[in-house]
Parts: sequence; structure tokens; C-alpha cells
Amino acid sequence: MERVATHANVSAGRNGHPPGPRGLPLAGMAFVLRRDPLAGMRQIAREYGDIVRFHVMMQERILLNHPDWINQVLVIQHSKFHKSELTRRITARMLGQGLLISEGEFWRRQRRLAQPAFHRNRVNDYAATMLDIASAHIRDWRGGESRNIGQEMTALTLGIAVRTLFSTTLPEEARRVGHAMTFLMRYSLRRQRLPFRIPETWPTPSNRRANRELGFIDSLVYRIISERQAAGNSRHYNDLLALLMGAMDEDGTQMTPQQLHDETMTLFLAGHETTAQMLAWTWYALSQNPAAEARLHEELRDILGTRPMDAADFARLPYLQAVMNEVLRLYPPAYIMAREAIEPCEIGGYEFRPGVTLLFSQWLMHRDARYYDDAEAFRPERWLDGLEKRLPPGAHFPFGDGPRRCIGQGFALMEAAVVIATLARRFHLKLVPGHPVVGEPLVTLRPRHGIRMTLYARN
Ligand code: HEM
Repeated sequence: MERVATHANVSAGRNGHPPGPRGLPLAGMAFVLRRDPLAGMRQIAREYGDIVRFHVMMQERILLNHPDWINQVLVIQHSKFHKSELTRRITARMLGQGLLISEGEFWRRQRRLAQPAFHRNRVNDYAATMLDIASAHIRDWRGGESRNIGQEMTALTLGIAVRTLFSTTLPEEARRVGHAMTFLMRYSLRRQRLPFRIPETWPTPSNRRANRELGFIDSLVYRIISERQAAGNSRHYNDLLALLMGAMDEDGTQMTPQQLHDETMTLFLAGHETTAQMLAWTWYALSQNPAAEARLHEELRDILGTRPMDAADFARLPYLQAVMNEVLRLYPPAYIMAREAIEPCEIGGYEFRPGVTLLFSQWLMHRDARYYDDAEAFRPERWLDGLEKRLPPGAHFPFGDGPRRCIGQGFALMEAAVVIATLARRFHLKLVPGHPVVGEPLVTLRPRHGIRMTLYARN
């Protein structure tokens, strides 16, 4: 049985700074973290412990590596923090004032307006659409062929996002949206990792391409919104956009086209990319763990027989849920989070001034041997005996926590379950021998070279 947390060793109100590496003059830890951010963070945490101070390009960062401190920031003292400047810089150009990065009263109102669209009954309604798209996606898959499963899962979740958001299929444009978003994420992240920042307005090839891709996505989203407004919106549609357009605050106000744009872009990006990575890692993990794959298949056969999965089956598939939990533990698509203090705060016995950036990593916490036996091993069984309830808050947080917890958690889990159940019953996927699988921590944790797998049809 997995061990449960001990309280962190605190000496409250300590003066001075948390311990940490000095790094190089000026650059600090920038090079170590740029070379391999995950290994770099792990090394820092191992050497310096639960709360570590370091610098990146002369900017102070505090890494929290204990569930209690993470829970303090996300839940207990959440009102003292905002999303970090870093998060805003990476996403603001694409997502404007969308839910992911807005703050204060504006965020609260947008969250209230968007929440009903993610109600459990709504998510259950979307399950049928998810099933349709997953079944259609694999219609031309054939036993014996090999496919890049990373790309396949991105195309599939993009299809689901487009249909559940806009009730449309946009086959040609959807592909381009996928490429555009991938480029924009790499572009934004690369900009942040450069030691000096070239202004976005300079006509460099990558700035020009970023403007083109953004312009393409923006005009597509605005076109759909204005077509919808012209057609009298919601009565004719049963999708997320209709719910957002129809949502009305207590004072009778609704979202403006700009707000609708920002929220749909946010749901689009936050929704499809994370779930795609979760699914890609699922196939990889199952291919490396034949006993887990066999047990999953047995459960699907026993519970579903030959019929397709529907929303009500979700609760009847505990092993499938355990597999998803274990994938989110070992390969969390959101692998790091950041917050900036907006007022003085005390965390881990240290006092911090407003403006300090606190970082905490799902990838680090989820692989911490203090909370997980055999932490590096893929063992879905660990979730079957109530581990979730025994873990301290802050030890497993693939969807974040507190008021800013992922609004799409239920949607993502239903989507992943439907896709896994649909594909696993038709095919057994095996990693192509020699294909290198390496995590690439971009905005999400992706397989750097994709995941090339051979399909074997099941009888
Ligand atoms: C496996 C899939 C997913 C993962 C791992 C994931 C992870 C997260 C995490 C960690 C946060 C919190 C970020 C923070 O507090 O800084 C978040 C927020 C958010 N997610 Fe997800 N997410 C997933 C799927 C989705 C889906 C499917 C949607 C929508 C359709 C979605 C929409 C959002 C939005 C709008 C927020 C911001 C919520 C707010 O601040 O009020 N996510 N997600």
C-alpha cells in the first residue's frame, strides 16, 4: 500500500531565502533548464529539497516541491496569487483575456458564464459525438500498417474539439488549425527561452509566420461567430459556442464577440492539445506494459461486449479510469504551473514579497517516491484501492486545484475514455522497434519524435 504524506518539515517565519543553486553569473540556471527542463528541475529538487530558490536570467524563481506548499498556493492562499507573467506572455497573443489567463472579477464572471457548458449532463451529451468521431477516425485504419500515434491523437481530439465547440467538421481547416497551433506554441516558448527578446513587430521569418497563423485562426473563429449571430444562434445548435453565446449574467449582459473569440480559442487550445498528449502517452504506456493492456482489454470485453461505449459506462470501467489516472501521473500533459504573488505571503516558513514567481511541477510531484511506491513504474492497480483519497492534496494535480482547477476535467476524462475504449477494442498498438520516445516539455509534455506504432487488428 502506498505511503501517505508526512507533513513537511517547517520552521515557520524563517528569515532569509530558501536554499538553491547559484548557477552562472547573469544566466543563473537558464542553461541547465533549457537543456533539459525536467531533469534540471529534478536535480535542483533533489539537491535542495522542498523549497528552492534559483535565478533564470537574473529573475528570481521559487520551486515548490512539497504537496503542502502547492496546496497553500492553489487552494488555501489562492487569493494572494495570479497566473504568472510567464504564463501570460506565452499564451496572451493567442488567448487574449480567455479563462486560462484572465483574473479577478472578470475571470469570475467568465467562469460563471462558461461553467454550465461543462455540467456533467452536458459532458454526457458530448459522449455520443466523441464516439462518432473516434469511430470515423479509425475507419480507414488497417491491421499491419504503422502510424504516428501522436499526430493521429492530435487530429482526433481536434476533430472532437471542433465538433463539440462549433457543431462543424471543418476537415481541411481543422488540419491547418492543428499545424498553426503547434507552430504558435513552439514559437511562443522559443521566444521565452531566448536570452534576449526580439520584438514581435520585427519582420523576422518566424514573426511573420506567427502573424499569418494567428490571423488565420482569428478570422476562422470570428467567421464562425458572426455566421452564428446572423443565423440567430442557439436555438439551432447544441454546442459549446451556443452555450457561451446564450449565457447571460444576472444583469442581463452577454459576452461580446471579442470575449467569445477569446473563450473559444482558450477552450480550443486548452481542450484539444492536452487531451491529445494524454492519449498519445496512453498508447505508449500500454504498449510497454502488456499485463495492463490485457487487463484493460478484459474489462472492456466484460463490460461492453461488442457494443460501443456510452456515457453511463464510464463509472463501470474502474480499470480504464485507473489507466487514465496512471497516465496523467507519469505523463502529465500540464507538467508545470506557475503563480505570481500579488501580496506578501508566507510559504514553507519563508516570507515572500509581491512579484515573486512560484513554480511547481506535476511531473516532479507525481514521481516523488515519498508518495508513490515504485514511483517510476506504470502500475494502474495503485489507483484501485483508494490511493486518491489517501494522498495529501497537492501530490496529484494533473488538472490543477482550487478555484482555477481545469473547467474541462470531466470533458477530458470522458473524451479520453471513449477514445481509448473505441480504439482498444479494434486494435492492439505496438511501438515500432527502435522508435525513440522522449518527452518534450513544450507548453504541454509531448513525445518529441511522435510515437510510431504498428496496428494489429483484434478479432
Ligand atoms: C487531459 C486533459 C487536460 C489537462 C491535463 C488539463 C490541465 C489543466 C490544468 C493543470 C489547468 C490549471 C491551470 C492553472 O491553474 O494554472 C487547466 C485549466 C483549464 N483548462 Fe484544462 N486540462 C485538460 C483538458 C481540458 C479541456 C478538455 C478543456 C476544455 C474543453 C480545458 C479547459 C481549461 C480551461 C478553460 C482552464 C482555465 C480554467 C480557469 O482558470 O478558470 N482543459 N487545465
